[in-house]
Amino acid sequence: MKTFTAALLTSLLILAFLSLVQPSTALDNGLALTPPMGWNSWNKFGCNVSEDLIKSMADGMVASGMKDAGYQYVVIDDCWQVSRDQDGNIVPDAQRFPSGMKALGEYIHAKGLKFGIYSDAGEKTCAGRPGSMGHEYQDALMYAKWGVDYLKYDWCHTGKRNAEEAYSTMRDALRTAGRPIVFSMCEWGTAKPWLWAADTGNLWRTTGDIDDHWEGKQKFKNGGCCSIGMLDILDLQVGLESFAGPGHWNDPDMLEVGNGGMTTNEYRAHFSLWAILAAPLIAGNDLRNMAPEIREILTNREVIALNQDALGRQASRIWTSRAPKGDKADGKEADAPTEGGSSGIEVWSKPLEDGSRAVLLLNRGASEAEITASWIGLGYPEHLSASIRDLWAHKDLGKFAGKFSAKVPSHDVVVVRVKP
Ligand code: GLA
Repeated sequence: MKTFTAALLTSLLILAFLSLVQPSTALDNGLALTPPMGWNSWNKFGCNVSEDLIKSMADGMVASGMKDAGYQYVVIDDCWQVSRDQDGNIVPDAQRFPSGMKALGEYIHAKGLKFGIYSDAGEKTCAGRPGSMGHEYQDALMYAKWGVDYLKYDWCHTGKRNAEEAYSTMRDALRTAGRPIVFSMCEWGTAKPWLWAADTGNLWRTTGDIDDHWEGKQKFKNGGCCSIGMLDILDLQVGLESFAGPGHWNDPDMLEVGNGGMTTNEYRAHFSLWAILAAPLIAGNDLRNMAPEIREILTNREVIALNQDALGRQASRIWTSRAPKGDKADGKEADAPTEGGSSGIEVWSKPLEDGSRAVLLLNRGASEAEITASWIGLGYPEHLSASIRDLWAHKDLGKFAGKFSAKVPSHDVVVVRVKP
């Protein structure tokens, strides 16, 4: 008996030890093995969503060449829902979506695209529409019935709810509903989801909402603090690299490319940075009438290939000319405006499946700068000869040893592939 108890105790100790050292596994829905690509209504249209708008975006995704470039998900954000019926079923806005959600899903699917929708873990969504708290299983079944392929799940009006518990409930509800649905967690990094959510969601927001400007925390119109710019969000990704991988991604929020608040150079930088970060590439602009330079940015296949690389690694900032600031991955807690921005140059890099490296030279400053990526910094031996391809000029630049330098315009990037 004594031997049996000792053996039992030893096994329990081994099990406890293994559970501590085992890395958390990815969500087992087999989805988002590369970062999801698509479009979402919020950044450009806010609450002004309708069936006609969503259909025309699906049309635009095909006509603009975005579908061919890899974009798939057409996601309706907040404000499609108005109430619950007497059985507790969620009711879409019948004025704005007269044909119903199932028909809209069918329209999107007929284009070879996928259908995404939005809800919230609280009583209400951020725009005050009915949330899913207490209705998780019912809502998940309804989404499955409508043919939904992607759920963005927000965090407003959640009171004292525990994030891990709330997101796991919806994950389980989606699993029970039986339809493969990408699960996009939107709790703004508040409970550090990168530490626990790899087997809960396919992607998780790491910060507060992006605002369509280059850099700096700016006061909201209501006087509160603060909306955050693209580079502020970028800085908050430093240190999160190890948590991203196939099926589970850090989400620095959706793209603002084409929404008018930044220059073309700045949008090129924004897109390249999100691509190399292995961030979800969810466009947020009007796909019906894109300027050619915006379409060119969003459909650059060589840059998209870095994002969709099967290895699934998120880039690290391997060099910066700026002093560290004590970055904190929670834009919602920002407490002081920092208008005016910072200068500085940076080198970002990520390894790719074929043994080459993606390298991004970022010029945050107000004038042109020469930026160098050294082989040592990239983890290559100094004498190694590697060929370089410029992914915005679409040009092979030849063989280099020891380092690669380029002149980078103000608020812009040079992105190259370095192949030994
Ligand atoms: C939150 C989210 C946004 C958007 C809005 C909708 O702010 O972070 O991305 O979904 O809610 O109300």
